Amino acid sequence: MAPTEATSMDKIVALCKRRGFVFQSSEIYGGLASTYDYGHYGVLLKSNVKSEWWRAVVQERDDVVALDAAILMHPRTWEASGHLEGFTDPLVQCLGKCKKRWREDHLREAAITAGGAEDPSEGDGLPLELSCPECGGELSEPRQFNLMFETHMGPVADEGSVVYLRPETAQGIFVNFKNVLQFARKKPPFGIAQVGKAFRNEITPGNFIFRTREFEQMEIEYFVPPHDAPKWHMHWMEERMGWYERLGIRPDGLRLREHGPEELSHYSSATSDIEYLFPMGWSELEGIANRGDFDLTQHQNVSGEKLDYVDTATGERYVPYVIEPSAGADRAMLAFLVDAYDEEEIEGRRRTLLRLNPRLAPVKVGVLPLVNREGMPELARDLYEDLRGRMPAEYDAGGSIGKRYRRQDEIGTPWGVTVDGQTLEDNTVTLRDRDTLDQTRIAIEELAPELERRLAAA
Ligand code: GAP
Repeated sequence: MAPTEATSMDKIVALCKRRGFVFQSSEIYGGLASTYDYGHYGVLLKSNVKSEWWRAVVQERDDVVALDAAILMHPRTWEASGHLEGFTDPLVQCLGKCKKRWREDHLREAAITAGGAEDPSEGDGLPLELSCPECGGELSEPRQFNLMFETHMGPVADEGSVVYLRPETAQGIFVNFKNVLQFARKKPPFGIAQVGKAFRNEITPGNFIFRTREFEQMEIEYFVPPHDAPKWHMHWMEERMGWYERLGIRPDGLRLREHGPEELSHYSSATSDIEYLFPMGWSELEGIANRGDFDLTQHQNVSGEKLDYVDTATGERYVPYVIEPSAGADRAMLAFLVDAYDEEEIEGRRRTLLRLNPRLAPVKVGVLPLVNREGMPELARDLYEDLRGRMPAEYDAGGSIGKRYRRQDEIGTPWGVTVDGQTLEDNTVTLRDRDTLDQTRIAIEELAPELERRLAAA
């Protein structure tokens, strides 16, 4: 099966629930809309996505350093960044029966796509007549709605104590530019990478963990001499596309799409999105923007601190331009899940599996005794205890061997090891491959090095 064409979001949601990857948040109280809790395998999978990101953008390069800034920032940050003024979506509400709220720009796009209508903002056409997609009711006039979550710092909730939950991790990087320049002994071109939670009071969250109000971002702000910005923009687009492909996303499910002028964020002079063919259609996975010198200049103006760079060799002084590859950890995890999901029929029996790249798989090897007697469980348990210090492993002795394999297939475990009668005689085990179902016999002492070799090659 070609995964993204036939994989419905319902199947992904069902598997995530069945196998404990992701649950509805606060389920016992009826759930909190569009918020999710990650269970054991979900935590491990997302953690692997983030580790692979760190590996690619920091460990395997020498021009990017790590940062972990606080979620709560000085409120003037958001004045400087433009978020107080410009981080808004146009909100319309149904005045008919259902009273639902919608993003006017999304309704407009949908109307243009569905009806082949011209976008009146691009010509002298009449304004599009929009109505509520749910009940057909009339819609209110659009109102600009700020997406930042507001809270208060300290015991008194007055105007002077307002702080915001950061809507992007990026600003924590910009305000630390000087610190990093000084302490990491870097000079442009260099980058700062950060992973962390971000919060947006989205009007229309949805599609499972694709768009939520609390999510994790993986962002790099890469500072470059202004004249080199286009070259580095291209570099990061190639790097980031390559990362998704190397981790197993099929190339025909990925594309780069350049933003039109009307789509650009308030800070960007050029942005391309890496899009993935999700079950609901092509949608943004990661944005790669050329932010120019917008952010550093703004923070310089508002804070009064100099945020430029002086090249000691040439004496040149400039505010660096910024190339920003900005990805969502939850959204990336969803794309890996959708892409890996497969169903097939083997000798009349249906199996569901996640063909995850072994580096991303929550568990690398399942160790199973063929039957629960004749010393097989003890031997398998010893083997598991030996393996788990070297890679995430699981021991499973409950239920028939077929059922246990199906369980490992569904959580994406790439290799299964079975301890059977022959093991007791010659110290060999069966090594099963999740994707090909090939089974080979291997000596116990060769097992761990063989699995490590396969993992390194993945
Ligand atoms: N600093 C730039 C920035 O935040 P963005 O395009 O708004 O740019 C970057 O967000 C990435 O963060 C998106 O490509 C997406 O992967 C993720 N993201 C944004 N909003 C999200 C949401 N509500 N839920 C889940 N992920 C989100």
